[in-house]
Amino acid sequence: MGVEWLSVIALLSAAALAVRLAATKRSGKPAKREGSTRRRDEAPAARTDAAAPATPLGARLRPASDGYSLTLGQMEEVTEGLRQIPPFPQAVLRVTRELDSGESSAETVAETIASEPVLTASLLRIANSAAVGLRREVVTVAEAVAYLGFSTTRALFLRLQIGSLLPQSNRGGYDSQKLWIHSMAVAHAAEELARRVGATDPQLALTAGLLHDIGKVAINCRFPEKVRELWTSGAPADESFLDRERRIFGADHAAIGAILAVQWKLPAELAEMIRAHHLPQDRPPALSPEACRALLCVFVANQLVKYCHVYCENMEIDPIPDEVAAELGSTTQIESLLDQRMRQIIDRAAQLTGGAAETSAPVANAA
Ligand SMILES: [Fe+2]
Ligand SMILES: [Fe+2]
Repeated sequence: MGVEWLSVIALLSAAALAVRLAATKRSGKPAKREGSTRRRDEAPAARTDAAAPATPLGARLRPASDGYSLTLGQMEEVTEGLRQIPPFPQAVLRVTRELDSGESSAETVAETIASEPVLTASLLRIANSAAVGLRREVVTVAEAVAYLGFSTTRALFLRLQIGSLLPQSNRGGYDSQKLWIHSMAVAHAAEELARRVGATDPQLALTAGLLHDIGKVAINCRFPEKVRELWTSGAPADESFLDRERRIFGADHAAIGAILAVQWKLPAELAEMIRAHHLPQDRPPALSPEACRALLCVFVANQLVKYCHVYCENMEIDPIPDEVAAELGSTTQIESLLDQRMRQIIDRAAQLTGGAAETSAPVANAA
Protein backbone atom coordinates (compact mmCIF):
# COMPACT_ATOMS: atom_id res chain seq x y z
CA MET A 1 0.00 0.00 0.00
CA GLY A 2 1.42 3.38 -0.95
CA VAL A 3 1.64 5.28 2.30
CA GLU A 4 1.42 9.01 2.30
CA TRP A 5 1.03 10.41 5.75
CA LEU A 6 -1.31 13.30 5.52
CA SER A 7 -3.95 14.57 7.83
CA VAL A 8 -4.84 18.07 6.75
CA ILE A 9 -6.16 17.11 3.33
CA ALA A 10 -8.48 14.51 4.77
CA LEU A 11 -9.73 16.97 7.37
CA LEU A 12 -10.31 19.61 4.73
CA SER A 13 -12.02 17.05 2.59
CA ALA A 14 -14.35 16.18 5.45
CA ALA A 15 -14.99 19.88 5.97
CA ALA A 16 -15.75 20.32 2.29
CA LEU A 17 -18.18 17.46 2.55
CA ALA A 18 -19.81 19.13 5.53
CA VAL A 19 -20.23 22.35 3.62
CA ARG A 20 -21.63 20.54 0.60
CA LEU A 21 -24.07 18.59 2.68
CA ALA A 22 -25.07 21.67 4.61
CA ALA A 23 -25.75 23.42 1.31
CA THR A 24 -27.79 20.44 0.24
CA LYS A 25 -29.94 20.73 3.28
CA ARG A 26 -30.34 24.48 2.95
CA SER A 27 -31.40 24.30 -0.65
CA GLY A 28 -33.57 21.29 -0.10
CA LYS A 29 -32.07 19.87 -3.24
CA PRO A 30 -29.72 16.96 -3.47
CA ALA A 31 -26.03 17.61 -3.92
CA LYS A 32 -25.05 16.54 -7.39
CA ARG A 33 -21.80 15.16 -8.60
CA GLU A 34 -20.79 15.36 -12.16
CA GLY A 35 -22.20 12.39 -13.95
CA SER A 36 -24.43 11.46 -11.05
CA THR A 37 -27.92 12.50 -10.15
CA ARG A 38 -28.22 10.45 -7.04
CA ARG A 39 -28.54 12.14 -3.68
CA ARG A 40 -26.17 11.17 -0.93
CA ASP A 41 -27.62 8.15 0.88
CA GLU A 42 -30.48 8.00 -1.56
CA ALA A 43 -31.50 4.43 -2.11
CA PRO A 44 -30.75 3.11 -5.57
CA ALA A 45 -33.88 2.82 -7.67
CA ALA A 46 -33.77 -0.95 -7.37
CA ARG A 47 -34.70 -0.68 -3.72
CA THR A 48 -38.40 -0.58 -4.20
CA ASP A 49 -38.90 -2.23 -7.55
CA ALA A 50 -39.36 -5.89 -8.30
CA ALA A 51 -35.64 -6.31 -8.91
CA ALA A 52 -34.75 -5.26 -5.37
CA PRO A 53 -32.23 -7.68 -3.92
CA ALA A 54 -33.43 -10.32 -1.53
CA THR A 55 -32.41 -9.88 2.07
CA PRO A 56 -31.69 -12.64 4.54
CA LEU A 57 -34.02 -13.22 7.43
CA GLY A 58 -33.86 -10.41 9.94
CA ALA A 59 -32.29 -7.91 7.55
CA ARG A 60 -33.79 -5.03 5.63
CA LEU A 61 -32.65 -2.75 2.88
CA ARG A 62 -31.41 0.51 4.26
CA PRO A 63 -34.16 3.16 4.20
CA ALA A 64 -33.40 6.23 2.11
CA SER A 65 -32.09 9.31 3.85
CA ASP A 66 -32.85 12.98 3.31
CA GLY A 67 -29.15 13.75 3.65
CA TYR A 68 -27.62 15.48 6.61
CA SER A 69 -25.31 18.28 7.49
CA LEU A 70 -22.25 17.77 9.59
CA THR A 71 -21.32 21.24 10.74
CA LEU A 72 -17.81 22.26 11.68
CA GLY A 73 -19.08 22.71 15.24
CA GLN A 74 -20.31 19.12 15.36
CA MET A 75 -17.05 17.95 13.85
CA GLU A 76 -15.19 19.76 16.61
CA GLU A 77 -17.40 18.12 19.25
CA VAL A 78 -16.73 14.68 17.83
CA THR A 79 -13.03 15.40 17.48
CA GLU A 80 -12.91 16.53 21.09
CA GLY A 81 -14.56 13.28 22.12
CA LEU A 82 -11.97 11.26 20.23
CA ARG A 83 -8.99 13.20 21.53
CA GLN A 84 -8.53 10.91 24.53
CA ILE A 85 -7.84 7.92 22.30
CA PRO A 86 -4.14 7.05 22.36
CA PRO A 87 -2.02 7.61 19.25
CA PHE A 88 -1.79 5.00 16.55
CA PRO A 89 0.73 2.35 17.63
CA GLN A 90 4.13 2.60 16.01
CA ALA A 91 4.41 -1.19 16.19
CA VAL A 92 1.70 -1.47 13.55
CA LEU A 93 3.65 0.79 11.24
CA ARG A 94 6.79 -1.28 11.74
CA VAL A 95 4.98 -4.54 11.01
CA THR A 96 3.06 -3.24 7.99
CA ARG A 97 6.26 -1.72 6.60
CA GLU A 98 7.92 -5.11 6.88
CA LEU A 99 4.93 -6.87 5.34
CA ASP A 100 4.95 -4.39 2.44
CA SER A 101 8.67 -4.74 1.83
CA GLY A 102 9.29 -6.92 -1.17
CA GLU A 103 12.05 -8.77 0.68
CA SER A 104 10.13 -9.82 3.77
CA SER A 105 9.79 -13.40 4.92
CA ALA A 106 7.87 -15.07 7.72
CA GLU A 107 11.06 -14.81 9.80
CA THR A 108 11.64 -11.08 9.25
CA VAL A 109 7.97 -10.29 9.89
CA ALA A 110 8.10 -12.42 13.05
CA GLU A 111 11.12 -10.44 14.25
CA THR A 112 9.17 -7.18 14.09
CA ILE A 113 6.16 -8.73 15.79
CA ALA A 114 8.25 -10.24 18.58
CA SER A 115 8.73 -6.84 20.22
CA GLU A 116 5.05 -7.00 21.27
CA PRO A 117 4.84 -9.93 23.70
CA VAL A 118 1.12 -9.74 24.41
CA LEU A 119 0.26 -9.65 20.73
CA THR A 120 2.75 -12.39 20.01
CA ALA A 121 0.92 -14.63 22.46
CA SER A 122 -2.44 -13.74 20.89
CA LEU A 123 -1.16 -14.46 17.41
CA LEU A 124 0.15 -17.87 18.47
CA ARG A 125 -3.14 -18.69 20.19
CA ILE A 126 -5.14 -17.77 17.09
CA ALA A 127 -2.78 -19.66 14.79
CA ASN A 128 -3.08 -22.77 16.94
CA SER A 129 -6.84 -22.59 17.12
CA ALA A 130 -6.97 -22.23 13.34
CA ALA A 131 -4.45 -24.98 12.83
CA VAL A 132 -6.54 -27.77 14.24
CA GLY A 133 -5.60 -30.86 12.31
CA LEU A 134 -1.96 -29.95 11.91
CA ARG A 135 0.28 -32.67 13.22
CA ARG A 136 2.09 -30.38 15.64
CA GLU A 137 1.59 -27.15 17.47
CA VAL A 138 2.51 -23.79 16.02
CA VAL A 139 5.28 -22.76 18.41
CA THR A 140 7.09 -19.78 16.93
CA VAL A 141 5.82 -16.50 15.55
CA ALA A 142 7.51 -17.27 12.23
CA GLU A 143 5.50 -20.49 12.00
CA ALA A 144 2.34 -18.60 12.87
CA VAL A 145 3.04 -16.02 10.16
CA ALA A 146 3.82 -18.73 7.62
CA TYR A 147 0.68 -20.64 8.53
CA LEU A 148 -1.69 -17.69 8.64
CA GLY A 149 -0.22 -15.91 5.63
CA PHE A 150 0.82 -12.25 5.35
CA SER A 151 -2.71 -10.91 4.76
CA THR A 152 -4.20 -12.57 7.81
CA THR A 153 -1.18 -11.64 9.91
CA ARG A 154 -1.58 -8.00 8.88
CA ALA A 155 -5.29 -7.98 9.63
CA LEU A 156 -4.93 -9.78 12.96
CA PHE A 157 -2.07 -7.58 14.09
CA LEU A 158 -4.04 -4.43 13.24
CA ARG A 159 -7.13 -5.77 14.93
CA LEU A 160 -5.29 -6.75 18.11
CA GLN A 161 -3.34 -3.50 18.37
CA ILE A 162 -6.24 -1.19 17.65
CA GLY A 163 -8.63 -3.24 19.76
CA SER A 164 -6.39 -2.67 22.77
CA LEU A 165 -6.57 1.09 22.22
CA LEU A 166 -10.35 1.13 22.12
CA PRO A 167 -11.67 -0.95 25.00
CA GLN A 168 -15.42 -1.35 25.10
CA SER A 169 -17.20 0.18 28.02
CA ASN A 170 -19.45 -2.23 29.86
CA ARG A 171 -22.35 0.15 29.51
CA GLY A 172 -23.68 -1.27 26.28
CA GLY A 173 -23.23 -0.16 22.72
CA TYR A 174 -22.07 -2.00 19.67
CA ASP A 175 -20.64 -5.41 20.45
CA SER A 176 -16.95 -4.80 19.77
CA GLN A 177 -16.04 -8.47 19.59
CA LYS A 178 -18.66 -9.15 16.95
CA LEU A 179 -17.74 -5.96 15.19
CA TRP A 180 -14.14 -7.14 14.84
CA ILE A 181 -15.34 -10.49 13.52
CA HIS A 182 -17.41 -8.61 10.96
CA SER A 183 -14.48 -6.34 10.07
CA MET A 184 -12.10 -9.26 9.69
CA ALA A 185 -14.54 -10.95 7.32
CA VAL A 186 -15.04 -7.74 5.31
CA ALA A 187 -11.26 -7.32 5.11
CA HIS A 188 -10.70 -10.74 3.58
CA ALA A 189 -13.74 -10.57 1.31
CA ALA A 190 -12.59 -7.16 0.05
CA GLU A 191 -9.10 -8.51 -0.55
CA GLU A 192 -10.55 -11.39 -2.57
CA LEU A 193 -12.74 -9.05 -4.60
CA ALA A 194 -9.74 -6.80 -5.28
CA ARG A 195 -7.79 -9.79 -6.62
CA ARG A 196 -10.70 -10.72 -8.88
CA VAL A 197 -11.24 -7.18 -10.11
CA GLY A 198 -7.57 -6.39 -10.67
CA ALA A 199 -6.02 -2.94 -11.13
CA THR A 200 -6.14 -2.28 -7.43
CA ASP A 201 -4.15 -3.15 -4.35
CA PRO A 202 -5.62 -6.12 -2.46
CA GLN A 203 -3.72 -5.09 0.67
CA LEU A 204 -5.30 -1.65 0.59
CA ALA A 205 -8.72 -3.26 0.27
CA LEU A 206 -7.87 -5.58 3.17
CA THR A 207 -6.73 -2.74 5.42
CA ALA A 208 -9.69 -0.50 4.55
CA GLY A 209 -12.01 -3.46 5.06
CA LEU A 210 -10.62 -4.07 8.50
CA LEU A 211 -10.94 -0.42 9.50
CA HIS A 212 -14.18 0.52 7.73
CA ASP A 213 -16.32 0.39 10.90
CA ILE A 214 -13.64 1.68 13.27
CA GLY A 215 -15.98 4.60 14.00
CA LYS A 216 -18.33 2.21 15.80
CA VAL A 217 -15.53 0.94 18.00
CA ALA A 218 -14.61 4.55 18.74
CA ILE A 219 -18.24 5.40 19.51
CA ASN A 220 -18.35 2.52 21.99
CA CYS A 221 -15.18 3.64 23.65
CA ARG A 222 -15.73 7.39 23.79
CA PHE A 223 -19.49 7.91 23.89
CA PRO A 224 -20.68 5.16 26.26
CA GLU A 225 -23.56 7.22 27.64
CA LYS A 226 -25.01 8.31 24.33
CA VAL A 227 -24.50 5.03 22.51
CA ARG A 228 -27.38 3.31 24.30
CA GLU A 229 -29.79 5.79 22.73
CA LEU A 230 -29.24 3.99 19.43
CA TRP A 231 -31.44 1.17 20.66
CA THR A 232 -33.98 3.04 22.70
CA SER A 233 -37.49 2.91 21.39
CA GLY A 234 -39.08 5.86 19.71
CA ALA A 235 -36.91 6.04 16.62
CA PRO A 236 -38.97 6.39 13.44
CA ALA A 237 -39.39 3.03 11.71
CA ASP A 238 -38.13 4.45 8.44
CA GLU A 239 -35.03 5.99 9.97
CA SER A 240 -31.87 4.30 8.78
CA PHE A 241 -29.27 3.38 11.34
CA LEU A 242 -26.83 5.83 9.78
CA ASP A 243 -29.38 8.61 10.23
CA ARG A 244 -29.92 7.55 13.81
CA GLU A 245 -26.19 7.86 14.48
CA ARG A 246 -26.21 11.30 12.89
CA ARG A 247 -29.13 12.37 15.02
CA ILE A 248 -27.52 11.17 18.24
CA PHE A 249 -23.82 11.88 17.69
CA GLY A 250 -23.95 14.60 15.05
CA ALA A 251 -22.10 12.28 12.69
CA ASP A 252 -22.37 8.69 11.55
CA HIS A 253 -19.78 6.02 12.29
CA ALA A 254 -18.21 6.47 8.85
CA ALA A 255 -17.48 10.16 9.47
CA ILE A 256 -16.38 9.47 13.04
CA GLY A 257 -14.05 6.72 11.84
CA ALA A 258 -12.56 9.07 9.26
CA ILE A 259 -11.95 11.75 11.87
CA LEU A 260 -10.19 9.17 14.04
CA ALA A 261 -8.12 8.05 11.06
CA VAL A 262 -7.04 11.67 10.53
CA GLN A 263 -6.23 11.97 14.22
CA TRP A 264 -4.14 8.82 13.94
CA LYS A 265 -2.38 10.29 10.91
CA LEU A 266 -3.32 7.30 8.79
CA PRO A 267 -2.87 7.75 5.04
CA ALA A 268 -5.38 10.28 3.67
CA GLU A 269 -6.77 7.80 1.18
CA LEU A 270 -7.52 5.35 3.96
CA ALA A 271 -9.36 8.03 5.93
CA GLU A 272 -11.38 8.88 2.81
CA MET A 273 -12.21 5.23 2.22
CA ILE A 274 -13.47 4.87 5.79
CA ARG A 275 -15.58 8.01 5.40
CA ALA A 276 -17.08 6.87 2.10
CA HIS A 277 -17.60 3.17 2.79
CA HIS A 278 -21.38 3.54 2.58
CA LEU A 279 -21.23 5.99 -0.31
CA PRO A 280 -19.88 4.27 -3.40
CA GLN A 281 -21.73 6.74 -5.60
CA ASP A 282 -20.10 9.69 -3.83
CA ARG A 283 -16.47 8.74 -4.02
CA PRO A 284 -13.96 11.34 -2.98
CA PRO A 285 -12.39 13.10 -5.98
CA ALA A 286 -9.00 12.94 -4.29
CA LEU A 287 -8.92 9.14 -4.43
CA SER A 288 -6.77 7.48 -7.05
CA PRO A 289 -8.57 5.10 -9.44
CA GLU A 290 -6.91 2.17 -7.65
CA ALA A 291 -8.10 3.38 -4.25
CA CYS A 292 -11.57 3.97 -5.70
CA ARG A 293 -11.74 0.37 -6.86
CA ALA A 294 -10.52 -0.81 -3.46
CA LEU A 295 -13.27 1.31 -1.87
CA LEU A 296 -15.89 -0.32 -4.07
CA CYS A 297 -14.53 -3.73 -3.10
CA VAL A 298 -14.94 -2.81 0.57
CA PHE A 299 -18.48 -1.57 -0.07
CA VAL A 300 -19.48 -4.79 -1.81
CA ALA A 301 -17.65 -6.98 0.70
CA ASN A 302 -19.52 -5.25 3.52
CA GLN A 303 -22.84 -6.26 1.94
CA LEU A 304 -21.69 -9.84 1.32
CA VAL A 305 -20.57 -10.24 4.91
CA LYS A 306 -23.77 -8.76 6.29
CA TYR A 307 -25.70 -11.08 4.02
CA CYS A 308 -23.87 -14.00 5.66
CA HIS A 309 -25.00 -12.70 9.04
CA VAL A 310 -21.53 -11.85 10.22
CA TYR A 311 -22.24 -10.44 12.78
CA CYS A 312 -25.90 -10.01 13.45
CA GLU A 313 -29.37 -10.54 12.20
CA ASN A 314 -30.79 -7.07 12.67
CA MET A 315 -29.06 -5.20 9.90
CA GLU A 316 -29.41 -2.92 6.92
CA ILE A 317 -28.06 -3.94 3.57
CA ASP A 318 -27.15 -1.39 0.92
CA PRO A 319 -28.08 -2.59 -2.57
CA ILE A 320 -25.16 -2.66 -4.98
CA PRO A 321 -25.73 0.15 -7.48
CA ASP A 322 -25.47 -0.71 -11.18
CA GLU A 323 -22.54 1.64 -11.69
CA VAL A 324 -20.57 -0.02 -8.89
CA ALA A 325 -21.15 -3.47 -10.35
CA ALA A 326 -20.23 -2.16 -13.81
CA GLU A 327 -16.98 -0.69 -12.57
CA LEU A 328 -16.03 -3.90 -10.82
CA GLY A 329 -17.18 -6.02 -13.76
CA SER A 330 -19.48 -7.92 -11.42
CA THR A 331 -23.16 -8.33 -10.79
CA THR A 332 -25.47 -6.44 -8.45
CA GLN A 333 -26.80 -9.74 -7.15
CA ILE A 334 -25.34 -10.44 -3.73
CA GLU A 335 -26.20 -14.12 -3.86
CA SER A 336 -24.33 -14.56 -7.12
CA LEU A 337 -21.25 -12.89 -5.68
CA LEU A 338 -21.35 -15.23 -2.72
CA ASP A 339 -19.87 -18.19 -4.51
CA GLN A 340 -18.39 -21.09 -2.63
CA ARG A 341 -14.90 -19.62 -2.38
CA MET A 342 -16.20 -16.29 -1.12
CA ARG A 343 -18.31 -18.00 1.52
CA GLN A 344 -15.27 -20.01 2.62
CA ILE A 345 -13.17 -16.86 2.91
CA ILE A 346 -15.82 -15.11 4.99
CA ASP A 347 -16.30 -18.14 7.18
CA ARG A 348 -12.57 -18.65 7.78
CA ALA A 349 -12.04 -14.99 8.62
CA ALA A 350 -14.95 -15.06 11.04
CA GLN A 351 -13.70 -18.23 12.68
CA LEU A 352 -10.21 -16.81 13.07
CA THR A 353 -11.59 -14.03 15.24
CA GLY A 354 -13.97 -16.24 17.15
CA GLY A 355 -17.16 -16.06 15.12
CA ALA A 356 -18.87 -17.98 12.39
CA ALA A 357 -20.81 -17.09 9.31
CA GLU A 358 -24.53 -17.79 9.15
CA THR A 359 -24.88 -17.13 12.84
CA SER A 360 -27.20 -14.62 14.35
CA ALA A 361 -26.60 -12.24 17.18
CA PRO A 362 -29.53 -10.10 18.18
CA VAL A 363 -27.48 -7.26 19.58
CA ALA A 364 -26.77 -4.45 17.20
CA ASN A 365 -27.18 -3.24 13.70
CA ALA A 366 -24.27 -3.86 11.38
CA ALA A 367 -23.59 -1.07 8.98
FE1 LIG B 1 -20.30 0.83 8.24
FE1 LIG C 1 -19.59 -2.97 8.12
